[in-house]
Amino acid sequence: MEQLIKKSLTRAQICEEVRPGPSSIIIFGASGDLTFRKLIPSIFALYKKGLLPKQFYLLGVARTKYTDEEYRNEVKRRLLEENKDLNNVSSFIERLFYISGNYDEDSLYKLLQEKLNLLDKMFETQQNHIFYLATPPSIYLEIIRRLGQFGLTKENSGGYSRVIIEKPFGSNLETAIELDKELHKYLKESQVYRIDHYLGKETVQNIMMLRFANIVFEPIWNYKYIDNVQITVAETLGIEHRAGYFEQAGLLRDMFQNHMIQLLTLVAMEPPASLEDSSVRDEKTKLLKSIRMYDTYEIDKYFVRGQYVRGTVNGKEVPGYREERNVNPNSYVETFVAGKFLIDNWRWSGVPFYLRAGKRLKKKISEIAIIFKEVPHSIFFKNNVELEQNVLILNIQPDEGFSLKIQAKQPGSKLCLNTLTMDFKYNEFFNFKGPDAYERLLLDAMVGDQTLFVRSDAMELAWKLLTPILNKWEQDKEKGLLFYEAGSWGPKEANELIARDGREWRDLEAEGEIEDGF
Ligand code: BG6
Repeated sequence: MEQLIKKSLTRAQICEEVRPGPSSIIIFGASGDLTFRKLIPSIFALYKKGLLPKQFYLLGVARTKYTDEEYRNEVKRRLLEENKDLNNVSSFIERLFYISGNYDEDSLYKLLQEKLNLLDKMFETQQNHIFYLATPPSIYLEIIRRLGQFGLTKENSGGYSRVIIEKPFGSNLETAIELDKELHKYLKESQVYRIDHYLGKETVQNIMMLRFANIVFEPIWNYKYIDNVQITVAETLGIEHRAGYFEQAGLLRDMFQNHMIQLLTLVAMEPPASLEDSSVRDEKTKLLKSIRMYDTYEIDKYFVRGQYVRGTVNGKEVPGYREERNVNPNSYVETFVAGKFLIDNWRWSGVPFYLRAGKRLKKKISEIAIIFKEVPHSIFFKNNVELEQNVLILNIQPDEGFSLKIQAKQPGSKLCLNTLTMDFKYNEFFNFKGPDAYERLLLDAMVGDQTLFVRSDAMELAWKLLTPILNKWEQDKEKGLLFYEAGSWGPKEANELIARDGREWRDLEAEGEIEDGF
């Protein structure tokens, strides 16, 4: 990134992707869901766009036994379900290889070493390796230790060695620090790429562009003009086939420790000195340090957790969480969280950030709403008729874009005002569906840009913030867990949380369906 900024590039040059040099990606967990659903399709998309170097190969590693040929056929079958592009799929899979073995046995790493030597020569990849850990988190350390012991994390032979680690990174502050400490025995921080796929989404990257490439927002981006910020990530899906993971994680770990806190950070951080990855990450860390930590007795006041029971989502009856396959019928794991965060710094003093995320909610929608203060004095209405507040909505998905709600005159009677929504939608404007978040992040890892990855200190601060809440919930498992019907907007207590401050959540049911006014 630094290089890119320093050379004064033209706008057209900036819009060109930086192309990676010779690279290889080695995926641990290559027969798993994440690999087949996200990683391989994203790497294939990069291949189709001509963004992969000629010197590239992908090596899958997993316990499941496949020969190279069988693995290629499996990938081909899956890719062809989505892309009717036989030529590209056929040439792409020639770069795919596979080895199988147990992650805790030396024999696998010996085999890996041999295979890498062979493939590096064959594809002239200059020993540039990206190891992607897409396995269950419980084996991350095992893999890293062995990679280290077999000399595969060393960079002294000229090539690079980078490790991409999927979330969850630890399960609380203590385990995260432990994992990090162990990891740093073998890797420098510059080799570690903690992935949070939200950071790769176009709309999330756009938060920085919108804030720092425009003059109009920044002067009003503070406590003087902003009343509150609401961040919602609502999903209609349940936990699908991920009960094993979710029963251990719960929603606070699954969505807040990473995605939600990252979104908050991007909205609230100060302008970085430059786009250099260390500058951006420094600002994020600074902001995280300003988020108020609550005392244990305050947690119930500021956080609401819920679990879905049977209900109807998109017209279909769905089971409750406790009825899902492989879920403990007495599980106290939360599938919904709403919380109020306060940032103790000059910019945000007194501005609440309300965050909520949940499974099996009424509608799939993720957005950040910046709700501005009311005008100080209305000349239009008397007798308590209020003007609606301005709202800037950053639509993260599914209708990627942003909208600004302003008050304007409605044609007709002299004093008739109404809310006008100025909408920008990516797919309408660019007539193009942006790349998947994983495409961006994999490409960045290949070019060595860590801006969109989570640095060690930020990861720790996020855990520091949430671990007291997890501990409290662990203590009173049953007390405080609320139930909500699948297909609703979560427990009504989430509304009360915000109503206590005299506010309400934005009505997202109507978003994108009913136009305001005019
Ligand atoms: C993942 C969580 O990180 O993000 C999932 O583990 C969640 O539980 C998913 O469903 C949401 O991602 P997206 O991109 O569909 O909003």
